[in-house]
Amino acid sequence: MFKALRPKVAELLVNSRLSKEIRLQKLSELLKSTIPHYDWVGYYFRNGEKEELKLGPFAGAPTDHTIIPFGKGICGQVAVSNKNFVVSDVMAQDNYIACSITVKAEIVVPLFVDGKNIGQIDIDSNTLNSFTKDDERFLEYVNSLVANMYSEPV
Ligand code: SME
Repeated sequence: MFKALRPKVAELLVNSRLSKEIRLQKLSELLKSTIPHYDWVGYYFRNGEKEELKLGPFAGAPTDHTIIPFGKGICGQVAVSNKNFVVSDVMAQDNYIACSITVKAEIVVPLFVDGKNIGQIDIDSNTLNSFTKDDERFLEYVNSLVANMYSEPV
């Protein structure tokens, strides 16, 4: 599944006729509609120089959490740690921000541009224990392409 999806993601992200925002929107929709255990897919970005994340393009139910301070929740922790965070059971996490009661598992993978953590992809699943190393490798690949897109001249 991930293998077949890689070229589609690559094709979408190099399409410079579309704005970066639209490409990320379409990417979020593509991942959510193709991968059965992806129930919410979205990007958060550092909000200027502030120590907080701001919600960018996403696919899935709207969330109240459009701003997340660094350190808060799974997303805020990744903004500080610069490391992937795989949560097999969100109920077992103390520092977690619930977006929907249906969510059981979550994965967050940071997005580095020129070595700097500028944001992250966040995915929620309604199935317990649904993320593996394969998701991590795939999402690292996706984010490497997103990083290339951000290196394009505006
Ligand atoms: N659960 C996340 C908040 C973002 S929502 O999942 C969209 C967290 O704990 O950081």
